[in-house]
Amino acid sequence: MEPLEREDEQLALARLLEQAWNGRGGAVLIEGPAGNGKSRLVEHVRALAKQRGFGRLYGIGDEAEQAMPWGVVRQLVDRYAMRYAGAARALALSGPAERALATLDAAPEGSDPRDAAALARTLHALWWLTVDLAAARPMLIAVDDAQWSDASSLRFLTYLTRRMADLPVALVVATRPPTGPGGPLVELTAGRIGVRLMPRPLTGAAIGELAVRRGESARPEVVAAVEQASGGNPLLAGQLFDELATRSLRLDSAGTAQAIPRLGPPSVSRSLLAGLSGSASALAAAAAVLGGHCDMGWAAELAALEPVACTAAVDELVAGHVLTGSTDLAAAELGFVHPVVRESVLAGLPPGTRAELHARAAALLHRRGAAAALVAA
Ligand SMILES: Nc1ncnc2c1ncn2[C@@H]1O[C@H](COP(=O)(O)OP(=O)(O)OP(=O)(O)O)[C@@H](O)[C@H]1O
Ligand SMILES: [Mg+2]
Repeated sequence: MEPLEREDEQLALARLLEQAWNGRGGAVLIEGPAGNGKSRLVEHVRALAKQRGFGRLYGIGDEAEQAMPWGVVRQLVDRYAMRYAGAARALALSGPAERALATLDAAPEGSDPRDAAALARTLHALWWLTVDLAAARPMLIAVDDAQWSDASSLRFLTYLTRRMADLPVALVVATRPPTGPGGPLVELTAGRIGVRLMPRPLTGAAIGELAVRRGESARPEVVAAVEQASGGNPLLAGQLFDELATRSLRLDSAGTAQAIPRLGPPSVSRSLLAGLSGSASALAAAAAVLGGHCDMGWAAELAALEPVACTAAVDELVAGHVLTGSTDLAAAELGFVHPVVRESVLAGLPPGTRAELHARAAALLHRRGAAAALVAA
């Protein structure tokens, strides 16, 4: 379904693709707070690029992988190659993708200033690979959650923005606003980005439409109350509707409007977590400490849950809109419905419990042979 009230943004993204198609490369930055619809726009531009016949590279910053040099660039290449099967895959891998992976394997970690020359060579090599890929057909490079990208990958994106004007390449980067005064994310976002999109809060009309999309019709005072409580943030508005449904508060009932202010935006994520059983809370806490996406077995071990209890807890968390995921033990990955929900879980832990979980998670990952750096801070 089309995002609501994002016509200007969609137009800017369509223009970016059109110009890239005609050999004029450019970058669009989508910036804004949690839940204001950045990923939704990234999804939109990817679908549009597919329709128009662009080659597509896509990567997502992950808080738990931020310390892994070139993590996002590697993802761009890996996901590209994964899209192919059989002979086409071998071909995709034997061309620029294979060279990219070889370049990254030999690349310096980027933290040592003495590596500056080697880093410059790597950036240059990656740039040439982009040129090669784009020679076959115009490319969209989309990076979401750039606030959690590793620094080396951000440096490459910045490098690209400076040298893409005559390449058939469109770059779209979505990020929450940078938090510190400097660093590679600030360099990228303050640098040579052609267009900056800051998706605005939804109006009451769009919030009413959200209710219609859920198969309900909301009274104007209920819409106004949801708008007020969510600040027009689409994520919070959606969560508020979920919460009202859970509490059997109808959108066409006047009394609901009075109940909403008591729920308030900060309560929305928390309310998803309130009322969870002990084992579901423990599993959610373990998964939150392990990162945005984590291995179900590790989370179960950290939460000290037996497989049967773990499956029940996953069921409960999926039904309660806390986790996406499956109870299929073979699938074995847990992910939160939204980073905001994971942050609420972390924020809801008493400091002592949180520190202890972090320490146990580090020990667990160490035992399992994973880098301690993967434990989210
Ligand atoms: N314009 C819109 N119209 C309708 N629904 C929207 C719109 N924008 C976002 N949403 C919905 O709101 C939720 C949050 O959106 P999204 O995940 O895109 O936010 P985000 O900005 O990427 O958040 P984060 O910073 O946490 O990554 C999603 O369920 C999404 O489908
Ligand atoms: Mg997002």
